[in-house]
Amino acid sequence: MDSSPHDPGADGTGSAPPAAYRSEVTLNVNGKPRTLLIDHRRVLLDLLREDLDLTGAKKGCDHGQCGACTVLVDGRRVNSCLQLAVSLDGCDVLTVEGLTEGGRLHPLQRAFLDRDAFQCGYCTPGQICSAVGVLAEAAAGHPSHATGPATPPGRPVTLDAAEIRERLSGNLCRCGAYPHIVEAVRDVAP
Ligand code: FES
Ligand code: FES
Repeated sequence: MDSSPHDPGADGTGSAPPAAYRSEVTLNVNGKPRTLLIDHRRVLLDLLREDLDLTGAKKGCDHGQCGACTVLVDGRRVNSCLQLAVSLDGCDVLTVEGLTEGGRLHPLQRAFLDRDAFQCGYCTPGQICSAVGVLAEAAAGHPSHATGPATPPGRPVTLDAAEIRERLSGNLCRCGAYPHIVEAVRDVAP
């Protein structure tokens, strides 16, 4: 079982909670099984950043409003600041660190670099993870608010700029890098 060297107890007092408030959970994180004794109040974002040292996902608002903490759980994007880690036993978790394969950047990571789609970069891991989810959702035919009513149900949705803006609207960028983010995602979209 992985240790949790940085876990001070979710109450911030520095002491671990009683055993009744912790459970052993195994998460498959970036393809690697990680078994931890998790405080039931601990959210996925804190577990990733503080227990597993995966600091790609960022804490922006901690309230599900900015998208900086976006990761993929079983292939679907989630705000990890709102997800109780204890509820994810057996789930696959993919973070921005896990997108790189054999030292090669994911096409979206490459496109963000090529398009200069960030400034400070704080929102970027969440934007990229969210965009990975967007590509999958559109390929599976999930409509968005921007999808035209004439679009055949269940068929892949073409990701034009309006679709990308709508589907990524939960990911805020305080630097205002939106135009280049849209271009980067369009570069990778089929
Ligand atoms: S930190 Fe999770 S949505 Fe802002
Ligand atoms: S690049 Fe700075 S917040 Fe988006």
